[in-house]
Amino acid sequence: MAKQEDNFKNVISHAKEYGYVFQSSEIYDGLSAVYDYAQNGVELKKNIREYWWKAMVQMNDNIVGLDSAIFMHPTTWKASGHVDAFNDPLIDNKDSKKRYRADVLIEDHVAKIEAKIEKEVSKAAKRFGDDFDQEQFEATNPRVLRYKEESSAIVKRMASSLEKEDLADVKQLIEELGIACPLSGSKNWTDVKQFNLMFGTKLGASADSAMDLYLRPETAQGIFVNFLNVQKTGRMKIPFGIAQVGKAFRNEIVARQFIFRMREFEQMEMQFFIQPGTQAEWYETWKEKRMKWHLSLGIDAENYRFHDHEKLAHYADAAADIEFKFPFGIKELEGIHSRTDFDLRRHEEFSGKKLQYFDPETQENYVPYVIETSIGLDRMFLAVFSNSLQEETLENGSTRTVLKLPAVLAPTKVAVLPLVKKDGLPELANRLLEELQWDFNVTYDEKDAVGRRYRRQDAVGTPFCVTVDHQSLEDQTVTLRYRDSMEQIRIPMSEVAAKVAQEVDMKYWLQKMK
Ligand code: GAP
Repeated sequence: MAKQEDNFKNVISHAKEYGYVFQSSEIYDGLSAVYDYAQNGVELKKNIREYWWKAMVQMNDNIVGLDSAIFMHPTTWKASGHVDAFNDPLIDNKDSKKRYRADVLIEDHVAKIEAKIEKEVSKAAKRFGDDFDQEQFEATNPRVLRYKEESSAIVKRMASSLEKEDLADVKQLIEELGIACPLSGSKNWTDVKQFNLMFGTKLGASADSAMDLYLRPETAQGIFVNFLNVQKTGRMKIPFGIAQVGKAFRNEIVARQFIFRMREFEQMEMQFFIQPGTQAEWYETWKEKRMKWHLSLGIDAENYRFHDHEKLAHYADAAADIEFKFPFGIKELEGIHSRTDFDLRRHEEFSGKKLQYFDPETQENYVPYVIETSIGLDRMFLAVFSNSLQEETLENGSTRTVLKLPAVLAPTKVAVLPLVKKDGLPELANRLLEELQWDFNVTYDEKDAVGRRYRRQDAVGTPFCVTVDHQSLEDQTVTLRYRDSMEQIRIPMSEVAAKVAQEVDMKYWLQKMK
């Protein structure tokens, strides 16, 4: 646990030190769960957004984009169910005065039981060596089976109590499990209460006529209310999708995991409109497609898993998370939801306008069903960033900190380094820089010994360094160094752009989805 915490602290401090993420309003001691993206963070975020957009919109001729406003008519949130049901069950500790999400306290308890299973498995793997059959071990080992039974019973009971809105039982479960306040160790809890997560604001200048609004808690509703506009103007035929990237706001109570759970964050969502009755098939298709998107980035598949929801949101008939191994445990990264026709029907009901599709083949009108894929851009950022940050021991015994970002997402693709600050090398290096700038984000560094400059670029995640030396003046060749392998090759200066392009091209990476 302590190692996990250290790793996570390293991630946060590295993100600050290398210009990725800053605490918002830091000079005023910050604002809880609100963050700013710095010079490198903004580039990484932009690249992730583009990688998603390309995969979803550009590569699917039946998916189009949208950029709807953050402010929406307040009835939207009545219709969507957010006013009545977008709540978190909260519990206060009477001694520490700290407020927690009751379900998160229970989930954390379950995570501890799951950690015990992992420990048993890794102990057994060591004991049995190559002969170890993990599946069989997990299916037969009495201790593992007991832990599994215990955690599944807790999850089931919590899901059923939340489903029934039986908050007294949620409190009782916390007490029965002996869950203590993580801060004070006290088990002196208040009752569990529901708390709405939407931020309210006002539209208009005068106090009397101002209209109460909400900052949108998801981008999806902007898509639903525009469904017919897009379908008609784009002459879209079902099945088709609408994709959107934008800010969402939630008054999160458990907001302690850096950019994992923020109060202002960005979502990348896609609503796929389908014929009723085909949802099971499309749900599986989108689960598979989204997992392929993640794996195309070359992050080890072991870091991902699907988690099917026990407790379904008010709008869904099936839902799964793609979970990721974050530095603080396995947590939700993306949701894939089969949302039925809930949203469109509710908007029909509340607006009095028809939101139906006319099927030219069957000559029938119907309200489409929807499969949604929804991923937090900031959460994806954290997944990629934390997974990329590594401490390596080199052959000569020294260590290096390297941020092995997928080259396609790296903020800066190339660092151009003149070997020395004289003899015309900076001039030649600058000529190369200017040429490469047409295609990529490039940086120039002439300070310190070249070894130290390599280390700096490793730590900031630049996948390629190009060193210009005296030989370059004679034969126009340079050294290209690969961040991950540290391999160095000598190539003509004129070939650098093509060589780098090949390795950072989105097409090259996205083709792995096929
Ligand atoms: N439209 C469906 C929807 O909003 P959700 O599971 O509440 O579903 C989808 O959110 C995704 O948005 C999550 O999987 C997560 O990646 C991201 N997300 C949700 N709340 C977040 C928060 N407070 N901070 C950062 N990302 C968040």
